[in-house]
Amino acid sequence: MFGMMRDEAAGSPAPRPRMSVIGTGYLGATHAAAMAELGFDVVGVDTDPAKVEALSAGRVPFYEPGLEELIARHLATGRLRFTTDLTEAVAVSDIHFVCVGTPQQTGSHAADLRFVESAVAGVARALSHDGVVVGKSTVPVGTAARLRELLGALAPEGVAAELIWNPEFLREGKAVEDTLHPDRVVIGGASPGAASAMREVYAAPIAEGTPFLTVGLETAELVKVSANAFLATKISFINAIAELCTAADADVSTLADAIGLDGRIGRRFLDAGLGFGGGCLPKDIRALMHRAGELGALEVVGLMQQVDEINMAQRQRVVEMALSACGGSVLNARIGVLGAAFKPLTDDVRDSPALNVAAALHLRGAQVTVFDPAAGETAHRTFPTLSFADGIRDALVDAHVVLLLTEWHEFLDADPVALGETVRTRTIIDARNKLDAARWSAAGWTVIGLGTGVTRPVAAPLGVPAVELLV
Ligand code: UDX
Repeated sequence: MFGMMRDEAAGSPAPRPRMSVIGTGYLGATHAAAMAELGFDVVGVDTDPAKVEALSAGRVPFYEPGLEELIARHLATGRLRFTTDLTEAVAVSDIHFVCVGTPQQTGSHAADLRFVESAVAGVARALSHDGVVVGKSTVPVGTAARLRELLGALAPEGVAAELIWNPEFLREGKAVEDTLHPDRVVIGGASPGAASAMREVYAAPIAEGTPFLTVGLETAELVKVSANAFLATKISFINAIAELCTAADADVSTLADAIGLDGRIGRRFLDAGLGFGGGCLPKDIRALMHRAGELGALEVVGLMQQVDEINMAQRQRVVEMALSACGGSVLNARIGVLGAAFKPLTDDVRDSPALNVAAALHLRGAQVTVFDPAAGETAHRTFPTLSFADGIRDALVDAHVVLLLTEWHEFLDADPVALGETVRTRTIIDARNKLDAARWSAAGWTVIGLGTGVTRPVAAPLGVPAVELLV
């Protein structure tokens, strides 16, 4: 059917498909810019006029390395623009990517599908010529089939419209790279015409060797949530093993290095610590739990429940470690917190374990001061009662204990000697197991990891370098 969209008049080359991208959050803004980079004409659509105005002026309303430059470049080439007018965007496009959010419903683990339904309905009503609607949002299995019916019911008579699913696997902080050079392209439920249109869209990554998989509609939906569920399981697995390492005086980081060398296991996503957060993994495993329950797949429900519980327990564990470092109570203790974002290279604090721990300690009466290189503002909006500093040193003044909660490079590279002069007590809880404990202990710090033991400073006789001691 896609062939019908082309002007294949003899002699003139077929024009490239034009695209609309509905929803301009992390996913949509990045996808729109990446498609322009690949040479397509793209209109990004959002219902939020402030977002459209910012993007049209080349400003990205969130922190994502490389995205602002890419958007600016293609606003300049004229291949990329943004609008609030869905009807107009659909009228000038052949392929419509649906990139709106599917947040967790309030009071339930289920995904809130209102935005995705309204985006597909909006595109359907606005169609003036044949087109392909491509879902990219993460949805519970079975949603795409329903959306396909909705599209069929609302598309104007005489217009051929097809709905397919093309899940997105991008990571925040690496969104541009992941979109331009994906690990795989998965296309669900496509007719031969729509599949060949997608091959054209992803011609550049395919030429680089990226696998292109055509699968059923339901499989495509499940590929995305299963990938995230597996990543979450890997993290909770290593966090469970970290608890065992603590009890048995073993070291989880070394253990992860050793098991990760087994090609069947792999080292990535085996970093024990404060656990996962963000806008995807927590909500996706909960939505999976909910949907699996509806479908009677109870083993999945049990497994995901356990993964979630282990993950949330890590936050409580770090709170208890801080309590214990302060002698049992944090009331009036000064706590310096390094990190608020759910991971480095983002200003996203959605379900951030770091901010969660900082807030929990604040609620127990501690004087918590937080510093994050990018997420200070978003964190302040979420937790206005916490204190925020402008730099590492400011956050650590007179601290009884320091908590490293997000592993930004500038924290790992910080000078423990200089920082040791700022704090009251040289104790740091490395909740990401990423500090060079030997370097910090040589500067007189006690470094407490999760499943890595406690590295204590050793008073060195003059002229003899300090060595670390694992207890
Ligand atoms: C994730 C998936 O990786 C991505 O493919 C999907 O499209 C969206 O969800 P993202 O939410 O950006 O991406 O974050 P990711 O890099 O996966 O990290 C998730 C969380 O896991 C972070 O809080 C991170 O700190 C934590 N994590 C990661 C660990 O605790 N240990 C690890 O070993 C790896």
